[in-house]
Amino acid sequence: MSITIKSDKEIELMRQAGKILAEVHRLLEKEVVPGVSTWEIDRKAAEIIRGFGCKASFLGYNGYPASICISVNDVVIHGIPSKQRILKEGDIVSLDAGVIHKGYQSDAARTVPCGKISAEAEKLIRVTRESFFEGIKFARGGNHLFEISGAVEDHVTAGGFTVVREYVGHGIGREMHEDPQIPHYHMKKRGIKLIPGMTICVEPMVNAGRCDIECLDDGWTIVTQDHSLSAHYENTILITEGDPEILSM
Ligand code: MF3
Ligand code: CO
Repeated sequence: MSITIKSDKEIELMRQAGKILAEVHRLLEKEVVPGVSTWEIDRKAAEIIRGFGCKASFLGYNGYPASICISVNDVVIHGIPSKQRILKEGDIVSLDAGVIHKGYQSDAARTVPCGKISAEAEKLIRVTRESFFEGIKFARGGNHLFEISGAVEDHVTAGGFTVVREYVGHGIGREMHEDPQIPHYHMKKRGIKLIPGMTICVEPMVNAGRCDIECLDDGWTIVTQDHSLSAHYENTILITEGDPEILSM
């Protein structure tokens, strides 16, 4: 899938999709409480997304069986909601969701604390979120893509954490995954030049321990190899001549 430059009309629809997804996240965060199952949160997500007249983009994507991904503690991404996975105080819970609104997509993730969490977990969530904002300082027309990548990694490293390398950010539009791919670590080249009208997802996945990951036998769940905690923060953004517009926040 190639890089697409959105027209003004398309940008307006991407804005609407992003606003809806931001609200979906605001509503879902409140559901992260001790005693609730991740399956129940997924049901809520399905209901909320349908309430906005949108489609949950993850449902059925490459056969994915739920509306959103819910990744707890050492699960990095693609956690499948389950009635057996009951949240408890101290868990960190990554909610990753996407919507399709009038043919246009938005994709965003946040890691949310369940009740009171450790200071280390709090720092991990904070540094992960900050690394997104450090990265997108470079997301401006005329800059080069991998300037974002390097800035994300630098912030994560300075915080004492590691960036996942096997999964990257991406372009987005009519498709959830468009070109370009956006690593969250230093690259040898500068990458493509950013052009106003590009819409991209920057989504650092950050581990408290080593960066290595593995996939469980279900074919989806990605966990840290050393079982250290992992956090995720993602927004859909629009490249402009100046500061990027964060569409999904
Ligand atoms: N949010 C993920 C991404 O950015 C997609 C989830 S994978 C799915 O690529 F299969 F669940 F859709
Ligand atoms: Co994404």
